[in-house]
Amino acid sequence: MSEFVRIVEVAPRDGLQNEVAMVATADKIVLVDRLSATGLRSIEATSFVSPKWVPQLADAAEVMAGIRRRPGVAYPVLVPNLQGYERARAAGAEEVAVFTAASEAFNRKNTNASIDESIERFMPVLERARADGVRVRGYVSTVLGCPYQGQVPLADVVRVARRLHALGCYEVSLGDTIGVGTPRKAREMLLAVAAEVPMQALAVHFHDTWGQALANVAACVEAGVRVADAAVAGTGGCPYARGASGNLATEDLVYMLHGMGLETGVDLEALAETGRWLAGVLGRTTGSKVGQALARE
Ligand code: HMG
Ligand code: MG
Repeated sequence: MSEFVRIVEVAPRDGLQNEVAMVATADKIVLVDRLSATGLRSIEATSFVSPKWVPQLADAAEVMAGIRRRPGVAYPVLVPNLQGYERARAAGAEEVAVFTAASEAFNRKNTNASIDESIERFMPVLERARADGVRVRGYVSTVLGCPYQGQVPLADVVRVARRLHALGCYEVSLGDTIGVGTPRKAREMLLAVAAEVPMQALAVHFHDTWGQALANVAACVEAGVRVADAAVAGTGGCPYARGASGNLATEDLVYMLHGMGLETGVDLEALAETGRWLAGVLGRTTGSKVGQALARE
């Protein structure tokens, strides 16, 4: 296994989608541009979901038009259906992410559809993307627990992840949407999926509601995963996941991975400054412990 861990920065999408006060489009553009300058290779820039469902990201096309794309950096965007894909492509997106869940109850709240229906909705996205040469990432939410149904059987996580991979997602991100997972369970879940989908095609995505996100990533990295999602300043939450709080803070993840002797290519100081700037824009202090510690030095 390589010693490089690719971080998928999701603050501009997962970090902001739950913010009630509108964040200015200009600030979203500055955010993506500042993240681009830190050495991150993947930055999820926005989402082309229904603006009625997620009003905060209604300016997705303007954000895509305003950012400066660096060579070597991917800017995936979230899309739920063909309509979202077409909007994303018109805005110049070259990579998209589709999403469903391991729990029926959550998926219904999040997308107004069963798991099968949500996959049917984005099947045409996968077909069009293949023809267009667009890379597609897939998310499986609620892999370690659901706010509505509680326990989520491992077999359901494996089945949905396997399906997304078989349908052509180059990478499947396993999301602990409500942040209830703990390291041993996270590792068991990852290994169960990795028995069916190659580890190189898997990513982990932890929310930090119960303070377990960093420990969960550590356990999964030890088990072999080499892609992890995180959001600078620990921003985030899902509007359709009651009680879900911030994502794992990217600064804390980078500090830990470097401490484990793994490479990320990310400039931690520049990232932490970006996190503190973003927290200022949102009117709060950064949710990153590392960002706070660096500010005190
Ligand atoms: P629906 O209301 O069932 O869909 O929503 P519909 O097809 O009946 O469309 C209703 C209206 O929305 C129509 O407009 C459509 O044109 C419009 P109207 O005729 O009423 O004026 N519409 C769109 N407009 C713009 N872009 C689109 C689009 N699609 C339909 N793409 C739908 C179904 C899936 C669209 C909706 O439920 C939705 O957008 N859901 C998104 C919810 C969301 O973004 N959740 C957060 C992201 S997932 C997440 O955070 C988890 C993750 O981070 C991983 C983890 O943590 O586990 C990824
Ligand atoms: Mg998420």
